[in-house]
Amino acid sequence: MKFFLDSALLSEIEQAYSTGICDGITMNPSLVKKAVDGLKADGERIDLEKYIKKALKTAKGTPVSLEVTDIGTAKAMVEQGKKLFKKFNPVAKNVYIKIPVNPAFDQNPGKDFDGIRAINELHKAKIPVNCTLVFTPEQALAAAKAGADFVSPFAGRIDDMLRKEHSHEFAGFSKEDYYPLNGHMHEGKMLEDNGIVSGIDLVAQIVSIFRRYGIKSQVLAASLRNARQVREAAIVGADIATMPFGVFRELARHRLTVEGMKKFTEDTPEEFRKLV
Ligand code: E4P
Repeated sequence: MKFFLDSALLSEIEQAYSTGICDGITMNPSLVKKAVDGLKADGERIDLEKYIKKALKTAKGTPVSLEVTDIGTAKAMVEQGKKLFKKFNPVAKNVYIKIPVNPAFDQNPGKDFDGIRAINELHKAKIPVNCTLVFTPEQALAAAKAGADFVSPFAGRIDDMLRKEHSHEFAGFSKEDYYPLNGHMHEGKMLEDNGIVSGIDLVAQIVSIFRRYGIKSQVLAASLRNARQVREAAIVGADIATMPFGVFRELARHRLTVEGMKKFTEDTPEEFRKLV
């Protein structure tokens, strides 16, 4: 399974790539805002174009998702997607355009398929697409049929929602806390969202459908909150897991590793140190 970094912060991107195990980057408008705000707070002058280009170069040879923000219509998303691709892809030939599966946040039923239409148009124009904000296997299937290269189920947000709808049960829980893959029972009933019992269950259902039909789109488990979810994304067969830098760092940690290292350091005889 590939590890992607979910960040627009150059410092994090550089650190993740220096490990040699980072296989791509996903950005979204909130992550870009966080990076821009951080730079401003440090008194730096922002040239966002140069900043993104530097990130693309750092990630050379691996995919970087850039998200559209003109989500008014399919046409607007396609136009902006094409412009983004034209401006940024020549830098390192690694741009994927991120399109929301359904941009109709104003409940305008006429727009329900604008994301799917945009994905299809970009796919026909040979521009690679990452379909984002996927919360059902049906949305994932539709995105795959439209030609999305990556389909991104948002695991953590499903868990957030299940916890929120039963907040009395989860008092004191934070976003980063683990939510069980097989769901959580409350008063003899499984908490669920139309048959989805956890964020990783959503990923698992999509993987199983894609495998059953030999669908080529890759499942990109997104909105992951902790390393255990990354592990479970791997267990259920996700092709990619994207994670914030904090979770990426967790991948290498365990308290017994720390204890073991302390002990090795204490126990190493001076004679051994002198050998090399
Ligand atoms: C993925 O592409 C998204 O940028 C991301 O995983 C969203 O995560 P969040 O739910 O923590 O905002």
